[in-house]
Amino acid sequence: MKIKTICCIGAGYVGGPTMAVIAKQCPYIEVTVVDINESRIAAWNSKNLDELPIFEPGLADIVKETRGKNLFFSTDIDKAIDEAEMIFISVNTPTKTYGKGKGMAADLKYIELCARQIAKVAKQDKIVVEKSTLPVRTASAIKSILDNTGNGVKFQILSNPEFLAEGTAVQDLLNPDRVLIGGDTSTKEGEIAVQALVGIYSNWVPKDKILTTNVWSSELSKLTANAFLAQRVSSINAMSEICEKTGADIKEVSKAIGMDSRIGSKFLNASVGFGGSCFQKDILNLVYIAKSYGLNKVADYWEQVIIMNDHQKNRFSDNIVSTLYNTVSGKKITFLGWAFKKDTNDTRESPAIKVADNLLSEQAKIAVFDPKVTEERIYADLEYLNSRSPKENKDLLKVCLDPYEACKESHAIAILTEWDEFKNYNWKQVYDNMQKPAFIFDGRGILDKKTLEEIGFTYYKIGSGN
Ligand code: UDX
Ligand code: ADP
Repeated sequence: MKIKTICCIGAGYVGGPTMAVIAKQCPYIEVTVVDINESRIAAWNSKNLDELPIFEPGLADIVKETRGKNLFFSTDIDKAIDEAEMIFISVNTPTKTYGKGKGMAADLKYIELCARQIAKVAKQDKIVVEKSTLPVRTASAIKSILDNTGNGVKFQILSNPEFLAEGTAVQDLLNPDRVLIGGDTSTKEGEIAVQALVGIYSNWVPKDKILTTNVWSSELSKLTANAFLAQRVSSINAMSEICEKTGADIKEVSKAIGMDSRIGSKFLNASVGFGGSCFQKDILNLVYIAKSYGLNKVADYWEQVIIMNDHQKNRFSDNIVSTLYNTVSGKKITFLGWAFKKDTNDTRESPAIKVADNLLSEQAKIAVFDPKVTEERIYADLEYLNSRSPKENKDLLKVCLDPYEACKESHAIAILTEWDEFKNYNWKQVYDNMQKPAFIFDGRGILDKKTLEEIGFTYYKIGSGN
């Protein structure tokens, strides 16, 4: 079965780039990405490619090449479902904020709404692909809704978790380490559906990198991969605190352990904490699943990764307060970076949010500069925490469009995101315009200690005890 029409529900950080790359690599497939959010779809359709709703290196070029040819963005969800042979579900699955499993379980209401809409609209057999990260056994829930509320047409459910990382999404999609497809290969129809999706990826991914498993292994593999990656960050961050006490340097430790081929050198950068839409959500989800099976020791083990991450963020703001003579009240502190990592405008779970909230509670005045994050987003992130009124947030925190302006008259600079441009600033000029002593708290370890100390800064780097 050769798929010629695809619909993707959800035009976000996963759906947008994934479908753009499928459209580019498979010119014979017509791909329509739909969303209930009209302004998001309008942004995907905007003539000015700088106005795409998400920033990803290389994405605008692909959208330019494919949009209007075989890649379409629309709010007409029913039409796109009706016309598609294969439907990807890429809607958000945030942590529940209410009811049973509040603060831990994934909220599946958006997924269920999609399933019901597909069931209502579909008049021909469809293959439905779960792209969003989901709790194990969600596929069977989707199948039950589709089979019981549909128009009698047949559905095959596949799990095809996304492993792209933001900031490198296009490269990750073009050259994936692996593509994982879970399906019910015990039936002929299931096997046909799996092969249909294999057929799409094999247009550009070598066959030996396309793994097929049962649906539940595929769903659990996604949670496991993210839990392992997050655990690595929490592990190195735990060691960073020991480094600071002992005089060791976490960069040297990372290099030394990373050369052991069993450990490997990637994902060993100490930081102010991990953020992003996946790590925390997926681990909480894993913890919830473990608890629901009575596996309390397993749950406690994984929960520690989150506890360590929260500690790292709090420790960073505590250090700023104690270094600035135990008070930051009324002092200007400059944040360079707000995004959860470089090369993205995404701020979900960004450590900057918690660090800012802690410092605002100490009545600091914060100036933020981020090359890609909007003022609107920054205030929305703070308002979501509900720690103080929106007016108080706006009075205490200002967003600047120029980094030098943001640093002017500041008592301290905190590096929250590892944007490359920060390395090349004129740090002498920054220093001259700051209050003295001028402090830098480098939460990403990207600046050069020697150069900054020669200029006159008091420089603190995460994980460095010297
Ligand atoms: C992650 C997974 O990598 C990806 O496979 C999955 O599909 C989604 O979740 P993402 O959250 O986009 O991707 O970015 P990632 O590069 O994994 O970084 C997550 C967080 O960990 C960021 O805040 C990053 O700054 C932090 N991090 C990462 C570190 O602090 N140190 C590291 O060494 C690596
Ligand atoms: P992700 O990082 O998983 O892609 P995003 O929040 O960036 O998450 O994107 C998810 C998108 O799914 C949002 O743009 C949201 O409007 C959209 N969405 C959620 N529910 C539905 C639905 N029932 N139908 C269509 N789109 C939906």
